[in-house]
Amino acid sequence: WPYYLTALVFGYLLGSIPFGLIITRLAGQGDIRKIGSGNIGTTNVLRTGKKHLAALTLIGDMLKGTVAVLVASHYGGPDPAVIAGFGAFIGHLFPVWLRFRGGKGVATYLGVLLGLYWPAALAFAAIWIAVAVATRYSSASALVASLATPLLLWFVFDRAQVAELMALLSVILWAKHHENIGRLIKGTEGRIGQKG
Ligand code: G3P
Repeated sequence: WPYYLTALVFGYLLGSIPFGLIITRLAGQGDIRKIGSGNIGTTNVLRTGKKHLAALTLIGDMLKGTVAVLVASHYGGPDPAVIAGFGAFIGHLFPVWLRFRGGKGVATYLGVLLGLYWPAALAFAAIWIAVAVATRYSSASALVASLATPLLLWFVFDRAQVAELMALLSVILWAKHHENIGRLIKGTEGRIGQKG
């Protein structure tokens, strides 16, 4: 189990790097937590109007999940890879550096999935894009894609272990989106790229 603990801590530390916060601060945008929804993720960074900063945030928050999985897989095999992916996701949502107030996990979810089983990451991205094109809601896109992903992994891709991890991450992702869900129901959720 020391392997598992190492994978968990390694994943957590990588996942806890708040790219959205760092990138916007370095670019002179002030504190992203005081803009829009207050979230540190790509969708909110886009509310600064700076598309390249949003793109960099997406890449950083995604790749930290992928790197955590691939490094743990290389040194420890499939089980540590899954544990490191869990650690990275939890690190993004609850980073010790931000008093455990992190992001909502969509990009890191995708990055972890990319490292564990890339065809499912493509499916997640395709569903996200389809819902986003139809609704212009980032949160709804993530909610639908994260609902479909464990089901696809289980029934279509036949990857039970990855399905179980992603089901757990989906439950946590949905819980972190409770305010978005409330706004979607009330019809007050902001659309992609819309300020405020
Ligand atoms: O699922 C997208 C999520 O990141 C929404 O972000 O800033 O609209 O709460 P935000």
